[in-house]
Amino acid sequence: MSDEWFETVTEARRLAKKRLPRSVYLACVAGSEEGLTLKDNCDAFSELGFAPHVAGLSAERDLSTSVMGQPISMPVMISPVGVQAVHPEGEVAVARAAHAKGTAMGLSSFGSRPVEQVVEANPQTFIQTYWVGDREAMARRLERHRKAGAKGLILTLDWSFATGRDWGSPDIPEQLDLPTMVKFAPEAALRPRWLLRYARRLQLPRLAVPNMAVDGEEPPTFFQAYGEWMQSKRPDWADVAWLREQWDGPFMLKGVTRVDDARCAVDAGVTAISVSNHGGNNLDGTPATIRALPAVAEAVGDRVEVVLDGGVRRGSDVVKALALGARAVMIGRAYLWGLAANGQAGVENVLDVLRSGVDSALLGMGHSTVTELGREDVVVPPGFARRLGVEGAAVR
Ligand SMILES: Cc1cc2nc3c(=O)[nH]c(=O)nc-3n(C[C@H](O)[C@H](O)[C@H](O)COP(=O)(O)O)c2cc1C
Repeated sequence: MSDEWFETVTEARRLAKKRLPRSVYLACVAGSEEGLTLKDNCDAFSELGFAPHVAGLSAERDLSTSVMGQPISMPVMISPVGVQAVHPEGEVAVARAAHAKGTAMGLSSFGSRPVEQVVEANPQTFIQTYWVGDREAMARRLERHRKAGAKGLILTLDWSFATGRDWGSPDIPEQLDLPTMVKFAPEAALRPRWLLRYARRLQLPRLAVPNMAVDGEEPPTFFQAYGEWMQSKRPDWADVAWLREQWDGPFMLKGVTRVDDARCAVDAGVTAISVSNHGGNNLDGTPATIRALPAVAEAVGDRVEVVLDGGVRRGSDVVKALALGARAVMIGRAYLWGLAANGQAGVENVLDVLRSGVDSALLGMGHSTVTELGREDVVVPPGFARRLGVEGAAVR
């Protein structure tokens, strides 16, 4: 085993901090404003306890499940993350790692690698999109993603263009021209291993967003695409239903935390929802997703699949989410840190850490499959859960 191996996600984060230039590391930490949601996403998992058995435990455990029609070997998938410059192979390395470990890949429309390359690395790829431009622009991008072979579409709607963090936002350059390289040189020089990875491939960090381009157009830069997104009309439920009709495969709505929104998503015909607050990068003060999960899962029943993302750092977190109603979880920062620590092998390492954590918690709970997990397996303190939204609210 290589000396790069780490045994927890916390250790991967420590290595990432050591290896990435400060700006790139800060971009991975992300969060918004005071970081209340970012913190609560993780802290809330620690408030939950387990109710283990001591006898009759299952000698064999099956961690496999399926999400949006894709069989996966464990209830953990890759959440779409639009971060450039962590590693030269970027999303392709992540997709390969997920494929090697038998799970699905969510690719961000703000990612650095084209969907075609990522699908090649992992055929179980779901492409994520924001609502950018008008319906025609959305339909043209969908056509490209369909042709590329994406197995599902993820529409992310929880974004309110929050600016500012109490711990400072990194400077993200528009392009890597000479003055920019001179400006960032001192930071990069302190992280020779990161620099070497790019130098070996004769490559510069990619700052364009290739999945936002259609029909052979030149990919826009991150800021060009972000600017277009900021000026786009915000979609309503009719737009969501329209987009869902344009996509003839499984469709996930990501960013749901309220019960009324969850019901509207069901009515719009989605296949799955992700109970998500964008990992605490959006409206600061939104409760942890694990607190919102039970009410959302109850509101939709078995009409759509429910997954959760936000704050998952351990296999035991995955098990807690499943016990409270999720079918699987998606991870963001955890795999970014693995990627920074050790490329594809680092992402595989993170997935292995989570897999063995799920397996060991399952053993303790006395279950042989992840689908057997239920509310009785966890200790939920009084006042833990949050029910967001009201039943029967007017459709927006
Ligand atoms: C740096 C960063 C960039 C992200 N970019 C995207 C994105 O492009 N699209 C998206 O749907 N979610 C994006 N997310 C949110 C993740 O998909 C996911 O919801 C979140 O990271 C889960 O929380 P966790 O990081 O605690 O696991 C991003 C998150 C981070 C931290």
